[in-house]
Amino acid sequence: MKTIDKIKELKTKLGSKVLIPAHHYQSPEVVVLADFVGDSYKLAVDCSRKKSEFILFCGVRFMAEGAEILSEADQKILLPDLTAGCPLADHIDGKQMEDVINDIANRTKEKITPVVYMNSSSEVKETCGKFNGSVCTSSNAKKIVEYYFERGSSVFFAPDYNLGINTARELGLAENAIIKVKKDGSFTSDNLADSHKIFIWDGNCHVHKRFLMNDLEDFREKYETGKIIVHPECDEEIVSVADISGSTAKIYEEIKNSPTGSIWGVGTEFHFVERIAQEFPNKTVVPIRKSICGNMAKINLENLYETLNNIVQFIDGKAKLKNQIKIDENKKVNARRSLEKMIEIASRVL
Ligand code: 13P
Ligand code: SF4
Repeated sequence: MKTIDKIKELKTKLGSKVLIPAHHYQSPEVVVLADFVGDSYKLAVDCSRKKSEFILFCGVRFMAEGAEILSEADQKILLPDLTAGCPLADHIDGKQMEDVINDIANRTKEKITPVVYMNSSSEVKETCGKFNGSVCTSSNAKKIVEYYFERGSSVFFAPDYNLGINTARELGLAENAIIKVKKDGSFTSDNLADSHKIFIWDGNCHVHKRFLMNDLEDFREKYETGKIIVHPECDEEIVSVADISGSTAKIYEEIKNSPTGSIWGVGTEFHFVERIAQEFPNKTVVPIRKSICGNMAKINLENLYETLNNIVQFIDGKAKLKNQIKIDENKKVNARRSLEKMIEIASRVL
């Protein structure tokens, strides 16, 4: 029997006990087996509403940790490959974050609130909750940063510099209202006099740093009527020259809803672009560069099958449960606050 058929058989056997969410960057063969696919925001919210005992997460660690933080005590979150991390999330830890926030507060005497990208560790989310801040994703960063500005607070944004600066641009912030915070904790500006500043940590995603202006120029030369859509983890100049930027869900929806014959150059993870091209053969969808997220690609049919098989054996009392993402209940409290704050702000009707 083929692995895909063995997976289907186990899935049927486990029924509603198991839920398989998949991120948009997962390979087509994993996506077809998933109960739902989405961007980081959808995955966090939808998983938190499901009651399945086992959530077998097809994505990277920070996504599975998000599901674990929002889960009920009797739910178990599993990641088919525990080494599937996100290097961007490792650009800052809880201690670095706490030190920088205290330093900014001391130097500016301003109210400062952390907004941390979903692509961060559970420890960073915990620190964020401790300082009454919020998580954000690429689909709601603008709304969340704006929420704190409207309440008279400056924002410390981490770990992705590009999402931070692209959000600041969308909000039309003045140049002197934006301060980059380097990894050693130093600032790029000494002008800390004005209020409503955004302090942005100098982290990045190597997959999205690879896109260059030349790639966009080459696409435009080849496809005169084509549109360019990119993820906001790309460099500021790339986002400013692209026609549209947005989360993976936005990229998918824009292309899906475009007329037959549309031409798209896409600046994000390659396997995702390849899948969109396969799903919509009546449109031309090309990557503006082939950039792969090796961590997302670690989830495959083999480890998906092994994890499902282990669940069955665990239920039958024949094996210990493997690949579980487990976060200490005490540490979850503040991390959950920061995630729930995101859901509350993102759900507000303006
Ligand atoms: P989305 O929230 O847009 O799905 O992005 C997650 C991610 O890791 C992009 O690199
Ligand atoms: Fe992390 Fe970048 Fe991979 Fe997204 S594409 S999961 S930000 S390494």
